[in-house]
Amino acid sequence: MIDIHSHILPKMDDGPELWEETIKLCRMASKDGTKAIVATPHIMDGLYNNTRSEIIEGVKELRKRLEGVVDLKVFHGADIHAVPDLVERIKKGEAPSINDSGYLLLELPSHILPMEIYNLIFELKLNKLTPIITHVERSGWIHDGLGAIFKFIELGALIQITAMSITGGFGRSVRSISKRLLKKGLVHIVASDCHSLRFRPPGMSEARETISFLLGKDFAHKLVRENPLCVVEGRKIESFS
Ligand SMILES: [Fe+2]
Repeated sequence: MIDIHSHILPKMDDGPELWEETIKLCRMASKDGTKAIVATPHIMDGLYNNTRSEIIEGVKELRKRLEGVVDLKVFHGADIHAVPDLVERIKKGEAPSINDSGYLLLELPSHILPMEIYNLIFELKLNKLTPIITHVERSGWIHDGLGAIFKFIELGALIQITAMSITGGFGRSVRSISKRLLKKGLVHIVASDCHSLRFRPPGMSEARETISFLLGKDFAHKLVRENPLCVVEGRKIESFS
């Protein structure tokens, strides 16, 4: 499996505080069957002012520390909160796409969906950048219907949901929305979005098994391995809807 969304670098956001915990998170991911992980610290103005170069430095350090200790490939990325000048920031090299592939994690406001989001996605696509909208299943606005999700996909964005949402870690309602999205073919990627060993641990195997049971092994494989690999390598992903 390839996990494209994780908060594993220490002291960068609400992930781990110490390198020891980072290594434990990586070991846990690896034991669960994850072969590669993208470190995606939050980038959110005023709260997490992480830059592309700081994240790359963190990934370099992590690679060194994992050598001969844990068998896990690490790439750089960021969990980028939506801002109007995002294209410019990426072009300037302030915010990174995943492994510089042109695919980027885009976090939307969780309660109300601003209409400008559609323009932002359009602008990103015009600039050959593909946003992967993160954990839509945990957003308040999803209860207004799936219209927004269809529109995101129509505009060329991809949809990522969280492994723990599928297995019930965020409660019944999030689990049922996740299953609905999966069954309708509105999910392209599953990721762990891990933050900690205890409450938000890494690992996607349980979610993979649930998806296999619901929709078949091949489909599950697509969401946890094939599509994430396309993201890391900058190759095209086909929509299913
Ligand atoms: Fe995240």
